[in-house]
Amino acid sequence: MELLRAVVLLSLALLANGRDTDLSRDSFPKGFVFGTASSAYQVEGNSLKYGRGPCIWDTFLKFPGATPDNATANVTVDEYHRYMDDVDSMVRVGFDAYRFSISWSRIFRNGIGRFNKDGVDYYHRLIDYMLANNITPYVVLYHYDLPEVLNNQYNGWLSPKVVPDFMAFADFCFKTYGNRVKNWFTINEPRMMAWHGYGDGFFAPGRCTGCRFGGNSATEPYIAGHHLILAHAAAVQVYRDKYQRRQNGTIGILLDFVWYEPLTYTVEDEYATHRAREFTLGWYMHPITFGHYPETMRKLVGSRLPNFTAEQSKLVQGSADIIGVNHYTTYYVRHHENLTHMSYATDWQAELLFERNGVPIGRQVTILKSHHQRNKGWARICDSCMNTLHSGVLEVAVRGALGVLQGGDAREEQVQGPLDPHRREWDRPVGQRHATHALYDTFRIDYFDQYLHELKRAIADGARVTGYFAWSLLDNFEWRMGFTSKFGLVYVDRKTFTRYPKDSTRWFRKVIKSEEY
Ligand SMILES: *[C@@H]1O[C@H](CO)[C@@H](O)[C@H](O)[C@H]1NC(C)=O
Ligand SMILES: *[C@@H]1O[C@H](CO)[C@@H](O)[C@H](O)[C@H]1NC(C)=O
Ligand SMILES: *[C@@H]1O[C@H](CO)[C@@H](O)[C@H](O)[C@H]1NC(C)=O
Ligand SMILES: *[C@@H]1O[C@H](CO)[C@@H](O)[C@H](O)[C@H]1NC(C)=O
Ligand SMILES: *[C@@H]1O[C@H](CO)[C@@H](O)[C@H](O)[C@H]1NC(C)=O
Repeated sequence: MELLRAVVLLSLALLANGRDTDLSRDSFPKGFVFGTASSAYQVEGNSLKYGRGPCIWDTFLKFPGATPDNATANVTVDEYHRYMDDVDSMVRVGFDAYRFSISWSRIFRNGIGRFNKDGVDYYHRLIDYMLANNITPYVVLYHYDLPEVLNNQYNGWLSPKVVPDFMAFADFCFKTYGNRVKNWFTINEPRMMAWHGYGDGFFAPGRCTGCRFGGNSATEPYIAGHHLILAHAAAVQVYRDKYQRRQNGTIGILLDFVWYEPLTYTVEDEYATHRAREFTLGWYMHPITFGHYPETMRKLVGSRLPNFTAEQSKLVQGSADIIGVNHYTTYYVRHHENLTHMSYATDWQAELLFERNGVPIGRQVTILKSHHQRNKGWARICDSCMNTLHSGVLEVAVRGALGVLQGGDAREEQVQGPLDPHRREWDRPVGQRHATHALYDTFRIDYFDQYLHELKRAIADGARVTGYFAWSLLDNFEWRMGFTSKFGLVYVDRKTFTRYPKDSTRWFRKVIKSEEY
């Protein structure tokens, strides 16, 4: 068995090394940016050190069994101390940019008030070191990590009080770093925050109908989503009013773009597909473009969907210079009504599927299957809620990229600004003992190759795409998956924190620098 595995690994290695690509910088428009991405909580570690206050994830992860092996992000890959190594890796591959997020509770322990000098200085060091090495910073202000204090004080995103607090944090960051940071994103994936934080309890703060931390899946996701939009718009307004002219940067938001195709070409499934697009992308894109929620959502959610006042609507409309596209996968959609549960997940009356007539939509990548089998699923925070996205499979369906960038039947929703895909990566669990195996990431290379070809087609078709950010530079703390999901271009030894570049880094170097590996 071991021998067989060794032979298989060897052939994979040969395959990867022999792999060629016809892609290069010349395949993309002049100035096209290649980068990688991360988020503060997933890579920094030192979660309660150097004056940082706790965020909602620190509390949420104390729930026993929240992650495989009870993993926490207390240390994760220690980028707080090893940022120079990581920037050096980017330079070696030839990347132009790095997208990272700022931990709100590292800057303001209590969400507001006095700033924490150690935290502020950390981002000064990181930004300066990046710039000294020609790596352009793309900075995200919020990536799932609300200061715990604000959750205790007023229920975080459920209260309108979060809007001025986020605005003050954003203002501080523009003032402090904006002389060097020219690319800002306010919030990463507000839908994930609203849905998993308040709709199915899968993410911190773990709320849903029937959840042990309380909640209401029928109303809270929409309330949290509303405040996320208002906080985003308020931060954009501060940037535009006080800093943009002087600092000459751009600001936008990162949205998770899922592409949907009808399972059958019947009126029912076509309409269900439309609803799925509206409830996923339209929830955020529609207000940013038109100042109000999509008609479909207003009709189906009714009085549970908050309204924008005339003043808020004006603030929200047009509140992005750029849209970051985090694209995960593509699903088939079937009309399906769930009359027993009222929640964000059932309001669209749609069922998401990975197969049509037994044919998968793309290559399957199993997430956490072995963990599932061993632990019989995650310790559940709630028995009635669905953990649909993360308990099944993620499928590689690159054709969704084209649909997403062309806007499909949501064409009228395209923003006035270049699209900027910060793309998610496929996922393959690798045990620590299989480190060498992890380095031969042929599948990942295939994925990047297909994806970049698809992107090239979309650009030829007229999509205004300014860059491509691979998720992620490092194998890091993947939220509820702990350290079992490996999205990185670089493998990290969890004992020594030594970084080992995978074959995909060499593939990228070939594309970006036209250098042989
Ligand atoms: C991680 O930090 C939390 C505090 O947020 C603490 O309760 C926990 O014991 C720490 N876990 C480990 C494994 O160090
Ligand atoms: C996780 O923590 C819980 C409670 O402390 C414990 O019962 C369980 O065995 C731990 N799981 C693992 C895999 O260590
Ligand atoms: C502002 O930025 C643009 C591109 O980002 C650049 O072309 C322009 O020269 C800059 N203007 C100033 C005043 O720095
Ligand atoms: C929003 O406005 C519509 C139309 O004016 C109204 O029917 C609906 O009840 C309002 N929703 C809320 C949550 O106030
Ligand atoms: C309705 O949704 C609930 C939870 O969201 C789920 O457990 C149940 O199986 C669904 N029922 C149908 C008929 O889809």
